[in-house]
Parts: sequence; C-alpha cells; structure tokens
Amino acid sequence: MSFPYQIKSFEEYLEQYKISIEQPEKFWGGVAENFTWKKKWDKVLEWNFKEPRVRWFEGAKLNITENCLDRHLADKADQPAIIWEPNDPSQKNRILSYRELYISVCRFVQVLKNNGVRKGDRVCIYMPMIPELAIAVLACARMGAIHSVVFGGFSAQSIADRIEDAKCNIVITADGGNRGPKDIRLKSVIDEALQKTSYIQKVIVCKHLGNEVSMISGRDVWWHDELAKITQDEMPAETMDAEDMLFILYTSGSTGKPKGVVHSCAGYMIYTTYSFVNVFQYKPGDIYFCTADVGWITGHSYTIYGPLCAGATTIMFEGIPSFPDAGRFWDIVDKYKVNIFYTAPTAIRSLMGFGTEPLKNKSLQSLRVLGTVGEPINEEAWHWYDENIGRHRCPIVDTWWQTETGGIMISNLAGISHGKPSYATLPLPGIIPLLVDEKGHPVPGSDAGKDGVFRRDAKGDTVSGNLCIRFPWPSIIRTTYGDHERCRLNYFATYPDLYFTGDGALRDAEGNYRITGRVDDVLNVSGHRIGTAEVENAINMYPDVVESAVVGFPHDIKGQGIYAFVTLNRQHHVSGDDKTGVSKMVNQVIGAIAKPDKIQFVSGLPKTRSGKIMRRILRKIAEGEMENLGDISTLVDPTVVEEIKAGRL
Ligand code: WT7
Repeated sequence: MSFPYQIKSFEEYLEQYKISIEQPEKFWGGVAENFTWKKKWDKVLEWNFKEPRVRWFEGAKLNITENCLDRHLADKADQPAIIWEPNDPSQKNRILSYRELYISVCRFVQVLKNNGVRKGDRVCIYMPMIPELAIAVLACARMGAIHSVVFGGFSAQSIADRIEDAKCNIVITADGGNRGPKDIRLKSVIDEALQKTSYIQKVIVCKHLGNEVSMISGRDVWWHDELAKITQDEMPAETMDAEDMLFILYTSGSTGKPKGVVHSCAGYMIYTTYSFVNVFQYKPGDIYFCTADVGWITGHSYTIYGPLCAGATTIMFEGIPSFPDAGRFWDIVDKYKVNIFYTAPTAIRSLMGFGTEPLKNKSLQSLRVLGTVGEPINEEAWHWYDENIGRHRCPIVDTWWQTETGGIMISNLAGISHGKPSYATLPLPGIIPLLVDEKGHPVPGSDAGKDGVFRRDAKGDTVSGNLCIRFPWPSIIRTTYGDHERCRLNYFATYPDLYFTGDGALRDAEGNYRITGRVDDVLNVSGHRIGTAEVENAINMYPDVVESAVVGFPHDIKGQGIYAFVTLNRQHHVSGDDKTGVSKMVNQVIGAIAKPDKIQFVSGLPKTRSGKIMRRILRKIAEGEMENLGDISTLVDPTVVEEIKAGRL
C-alpha cells in the first residue's frame, strides 16, 4: 500500500497546506479516494459552527474495519497487525497477523450479536491493554455498535455515570489486568459499578489474570465460552453512513460531569490515517509503538484506528515504563526493532529521574522518529529525549491535539518540517488556527495560513492568545452525547464562528505555535485531563466538608499536580484522618488519577462579595507566587489570604 497523500518535502507541505485551505473539498476528497468505500460521497463537506453542524462525506457508505482489516488481507495477511507485550517481560508476548486479527474481530462480532447487541447500541468497554481490547473495539465498529471505552483507572462511580449517560446495555471487561507490580481487579470494579446502575443486561468477561471472579448467572458470560460457540470465521461488515457515530469517549471539562465526545465514521477514519502517515512519516514495514492506553483518545486514534488503517504493525503494551525497571520501554524498542515511538512528556520526565543507567546496553538503533503528546514538553525533557533516546538522529514530533479534535492538529512532520523544543510548530494541512484575545478579536499576525503561506522570514513579534480553529477538519467533534447544546456552549459559543480549544498559545514570527496550557479550569495531570469542578464535587462528598477549591501547581513529573483547599464545618476538629478521607473519597468517586497531591484545610476561601471563589489567588499561592497576588481588596475577608499563605503546603 502506498500513500499518495504522504508529504515528502517542506515545499510539498506548504503547497498541500495552501490547497487544503483554498480548496478543502477537493483536498479531502482527494485523500478520501485512497480508502475503501461501499459507496462514495455525494458531497465532501457541509458545515456551520453556529449549531454546530459538520458533515463530512455525506452520502458515503463504509465500514472503518474494512479499511483497518479486510483491505490488508490481499497483501498483508501474514504481517503482524498487533504485537502485544505483556506487563511482565518473563511472560509470553502475542503477535496477531492481519488475518488473525480479522478472524478474531469477525468471530467476536458474532459473540456480541449472540449477546443481544444491535447496530446503534452503546457498548461500555473496561479492559486492560490486551489484544482483546482492540478486538472488542473493532468488533463494535464492524457491527455498527458504538463503543465507549472507559480507562481502567476510573472508579466504579465513574463507570456507572458513563454507562448511564450513554445508556449502554452491555459491558465488556476482563477478570483483571497488570500494571507494574499491581493487579487491577477490573471485574470487581464493574460489579460495584453495576450496583449503581440498572442499564446493563450483559457482561462479557475476558480471562486474563486467571483470578477468581464472581459471575452472576444470566448477566455475566465468559469471553472464551461465548467464542467457543462460534463456527464462522467471517462476518460481513455493517454498512455505515459516513456520519454515523463511531464511538463516544468521555473527557473532563471545566464544568459538570465528563462529557461524551462523539466521533463519526468517515471523517475520523480519514483524518487519523492521514495524520498518522504524515506526522510520523510512516513507511510500510515500520514497527510502531504508541505507549498510550486505549482508554484515552491517543490509544483510539494512534494505537488502533490510524495505524491499522495504514496497515502498520502496532505495539500494545500492557505495563508501565518503570516496571520491572526504568529500561522497560527501551527493551521493547530493541526487542521489536521499533522505528516510531510515541509517548507522553510525563513518561519522559519520570524516566529522566532514573538517569542514563537504564539506557546502558540498549541499542535504540532501530528508532527513526520520536513523538510526544498530551501536554507541553519542557525544554529539558525535549533535550533529554533527543539526546538519550533519539541520539540526535531522530526528529521529535510534538503533537498538539485533543479528544475533541480526534487527531493531531499542530505538529511538525518528522524529517519534513523543523521541530523546535517546546513548540508544536505548524498546523497540519486543513487546520486553520487563530489566536484571539479575551474579547474574541483576532490577535494581529496570528492568522496562520489564511492564505496558506507562513511568514517564515517575517520580522515580527511572538504573539499570544486563546487558540481557536476557524475551519472544520474531518475528525472534529460532532456532538456531546445526548446533549448537543453542551457541545455548542463548550466549544462554539465562546467565540462566534470559531472552535475554541480551551488552550492558550504563542505564535512566533515563523508561524510556529507553542501551546502554553489550558486557560479554563481544566488541569493536565500526567497528560490526563481533570476538571477542577469534578474534583471539588468529589471532595465535597466527604462528610463535614463545607466547600473546596481545586487548582493546579507545577509538578516536576506530572506537569501539573492537584492542590485542594478545603474548609470543614466549624465544629469539626481537623485531623490526619480527614486528609486520608478526602483523598479516599476522590479515589472512590473519580479514580486514583484525580487524587490531590496536596490538601490544605483552611478556615475560609477567598471570596468576592458576590460569593465567587477567587481562584486566581489560590492558583498563585499553590504555585508559590506569594507576593504580588494582585488586587485582593474586593474580597469579603482579605485576612483568609494571610492564613492560607501561612499554611501553604
Ligand atoms: C489537552 C487535550 C490529545 C491526546 C492527549 C490529550 C494538552 C495535548 C499537547 C501538546 C501541549 C498539549 C492541551 C489540550 N495537550 N497535546 N503537544 N503540547 N499541550 O488529550 O485529554 O483531550 O487533552 O492536552 O492542553 O487541550 P486530552
């Protein structure tokens, strides 16, 4: 398979960018010609950002799994599609060829159907990083069921909330999974979740750890028992409309409960594949290793869908970077001769802490391209990655994107456009970023690519603003499940006719973007998005808590840590147990990933006369910027600020 749309030089990038902006329909229609369709589209694009309503490839019929699987059977049937590396290196790995993956998916479709799943149903998937997770995802897509994957680190309550919101009627899970030295008992978390919701009729349980689990008869069935009943190796793929929902993935925002981001079939397929092939400069035969869990969008787009559509060999790793030692990633790179390696800055920073000792005796010669995603990469981590992993031979692509964008939006293209430490650099073809000020006015000189030309030799200043996108791309969020108005309000209402990312950014004179971080009340902890409001709600469920305010603070490894200021009711005497209690409550309501790093009990929070908590002040204190807190005269009780400063952790 070749990729006629793969960009081969910087000049070609500029040229393609220009075409994509001037003639987007021609551009994306051209890319789409390289995919397998059951029926081609009538119209490439129809859109407005008011409602919003975005429709790509209207009239087309397809199934994404025919592109991920069937089309590769002719020439890649025996090529590994998925290489699975277990948590424990002494355990056996598994390699699934494209033929084997195809058959497994076809068989599992029948299992789903036998268990009552119909096209359009929502299926909750709560699994460890094992091939069955990819099989479950692809089987849903093949039969037109909508998957909602929930990361294995979320609590029973979080799962129950997501099940209810998406009205899922079936869960696919496993007895458990391994993460480093820990066993994660996924099935018991599901059992607990299902006590909180009555939507679920069936639970399919994959045996992985081999531990005892309780099976409720009539509700719970074993994956392998169900599979044993299947006799057919083939199962035709359901015909899907271009804009049919492909999946829901929950993500945190600045308000309320996590929202179900919806992606649809055709546009998502085109954009994840296009960006995979171009950003990483994938070459047929490459071994590709993305370390992200499939519970996050990176795993959806760049462990499963993008690489498989491109016919790549994708590695799924069950474990963590530091187990059994900090050389684990590099052993995997050497074991499979990985060419493209994609990870998160937080992983790099945590490995930096172990020094270069774990790198001794690692070859790393197979590596050609390195990537990062999830949060800004600080210069120190960038240089460490470049020097010690890439050995100055490998371009580093710093890929900025979001759950809502479906695929990489701003990034250098490996070996094609220049990287710049801590800069995501230039937009991909089809992406028109725009920086605006608080009032929504475009920041002069920030309108990259309006005419498809970057001002590479311009003498200008670096400008900053809130990062927006002016034009739809194929994998843009379509809606938030069950609540379209929420989608409009969150992304399209802040600035009329623009998609607002929630991020702040700088743009240098050459047109390179540097993402500076969220400008809303969303934290980025180890590359995971956490809404401060969500954490506060969880904390407030602890008995005796009156109220709380959660802010971020710079954290050496996680990027951002979680700092909680909490008031307890006056009769209550604060003890060490309260700290543990609050922490446990967050763990129970959201999951371990949202546990505060610091909890400070205070007698009051800084509030304005209208009762609004002044987060700006708390943020500064948490960051250690005790001087220069700005104007605090509007506070009802300015003395609490002194108390909070004095008690800072
Ligand atoms: C937020 C999206 C997209 C996959 C993982 C996270 C931050 C993401 C970068 C980057 C600076 C980045 C942004 C964004 N972010 N990539 N290369 N440089 N910041 O997906 O959970 O939807 O979070 O992650 O703040 O808005 P997500």
